[in-house]
Amino acid sequence: MIVLGVESSCDETAAAICSNSKILSSIVSSQIIHTKFGGVVPELASREHELLLNTIVDEALTVAETQKKDLDGIAVTRGPGLAGTLLAGVCFAKGLTQGLQIPIIGINHLEAHIFANFLADPALEFPFVCLLVSGGHTQLWLIEEMSNYTLLGTSRDDAAGEAFDKGARILGLGYPGGPEIEKLGESGNPDAVDFPRAFIKDDNLEFSFSGLKTALLYYMDSNKKKNNCTIEDIAASYQQAIIDVLVGKLVLAVHKSNVETCVIAGGVAANKILRKTVENHLSSTRVLYPDLSLCTDNAAMVAYLGELYLHKGVSSAMDFDIDPNLQLA
Ligand code: KG4
Ligand code: ZN
Repeated sequence: MIVLGVESSCDETAAAICSNSKILSSIVSSQIIHTKFGGVVPELASREHELLLNTIVDEALTVAETQKKDLDGIAVTRGPGLAGTLLAGVCFAKGLTQGLQIPIIGINHLEAHIFANFLADPALEFPFVCLLVSGGHTQLWLIEEMSNYTLLGTSRDDAAGEAFDKGARILGLGYPGGPEIEKLGESGNPDAVDFPRAFIKDDNLEFSFSGLKTALLYYMDSNKKKNNCTIEDIAASYQQAIIDVLVGKLVLAVHKSNVETCVIAGGVAANKILRKTVENHLSSTRVLYPDLSLCTDNAAMVAYLGELYLHKGVSSAMDFDIDPNLQLA
C-alpha cells in the first residue's frame, strides 16, 4: 500500500509518502513568515499552506519515486489545530482524492505524534505510557492498543511548548521558543534561579505552567540585575523547571500504570535534556522517542498512521469535517 500524508495543522506545510510502514519521503516546509510576529499568525499560515501544498506534495512524490496514480490512499490531519490551516490541508487532500478516486482518512494530529514512536522502533509494543508535549498539549496517556487510550493527566493551563514559547518571548528570543531556550541554556547554570515547579510533590498527574511564566516575567523585571545571573543561566534554569515537572510526572505515571515502556511525543520531545533526564530517571523502563525531525510537526507520522487505518479498512466519508479542538479520547 502507498499512502500520501498531508499535514497543515499549524505553521508547517508537510507531505510524506509511506509504503508498507516505511517512510519513502518526508518534506517539511516551516513557514518563516511568522518569525517577525513572535508567533503564528493564523490567516498568514492558511495562505502559505495554500501556496505551498501542491509543490510540497509533488516534492514528496518525486523523492519517493512515486506518481499520483500509484497512491492507494491519502491521510490528512483533521485536528486539533488552527481552523483555517486545517481547512487548507483537508480541502487540498479531498480534491486530490476525488480526482484519483482513492480513499481518504482524516487523522488526529495527537495520535499521529504518539505513533511517530513506531517509526523510531517498529518493535514498540503495547501497553505504554506516553508523555505528549507539544505547543498546545501537555498530557500523559496510557496507550493500551490502537484506538484504546486513557488520559492519565493534563495541564490545567499552558502547555509545556507554550511555556517555552512564552518564556522565549519574555527573554527576547525568537519563535519557536523551545529550540532557542535549549540552545541558550547550553552554556548556562540550571541551578542559578529557583523557578517554581507546580504540583511537583503532589501525588497527582496534573501540570501547570502559567505560574512559571509569570515567575520569569517578575524575575526579569525585578531580580535580574541584583542576582548577577546571565541570560544563559536564566534560560537554563527556566528550562530545568519545565523538565523537572515533566519528568517527575512521567515517572509517577509509569509507576502508577505498571508498564515496561514509555515514549515521549510532540515538539518538546526534541529537547535533548528532556530526553536524557527521562532516561536517567527511568533506567529500568524502556524509553523511546522519535528522531528529532519526527518530533516536531511532519507528515510522515500522518502517512504512517493513515496507512495503518486504511490497511484495516478504516477510511473517512468524503464530507468529513475538520475539528480544531479534536480530542484523543
Ligand atoms: O508538535 P509541535 O511541532 O507542534 C504542535 O503540535 O504544537 O510542537 C511545537 C512546540 C513549540 O512550542 C516549540 O517551542 C516546541 O514544540 N519545541 C521545543 C523544542 N523544539 C520544539 N521545546 C523544547 N525544546 C526543543 N528543542
Ligand atoms: Zn504537533
